[in-house]
Amino acid sequence: MAIIKLKINGKDYAPDVAPETPLLWVLRDTLGLTGTKFGCGLGQCGACTVLMNGNAVRSCSLAVAIFEGKSITTIEGLSAAAGAHPLQQAWVAEQVPQCGYCQSGQLMAAASLLAKTPQPTDADIDGAMSGVLCRCGTYQRIRKAIHRAAAASVPASPATSKGGK
Ligand code: FES
Ligand code: FES
Repeated sequence: MAIIKLKINGKDYAPDVAPETPLLWVLRDTLGLTGTKFGCGLGQCGACTVLMNGNAVRSCSLAVAIFEGKSITTIEGLSAAAGAHPLQQAWVAEQVPQCGYCQSGQLMAAASLLAKTPQPTDADIDGAMSGVLCRCGTYQRIRKAIHRAAAASVPASPATSKGGK
């Protein structure tokens, strides 16, 4: 066992765990952050996706020690204090989830995509999201919701913004 210093959703944690423990186990069982889901445990389904320095990674397949000194974001930290993330608002508007089990992984993968590609094409979305499996087949609604969130994030042009000159 060892004290592992982690920064998760902007907060500092220091769990005493075996360094080789997968991050997912530490999130869920040690820290009580259960929004990140266990699907396959083999790096194949994406249910456990979190962000490491903004990049989508599979928390079931990476040892917690790898995350020391990195910034981790889980579904619990996706919303800003001001309210739901644009993706979460779009998810609600498009009624994306069915059973919901895969959805935190879907949202984290989508958040990573939009941070890097604010106006993704269908091909961009398919490429970024293809590894996050949904047994309920919500893929079409996920794609619509990502486009909706991207559109909502486009700043108004000077000609159309209120108060513009
Ligand atoms: S639970 Fe991590 S990829 Fe399936
Ligand atoms: S909503 Fe059920 S697995 Fe994706």
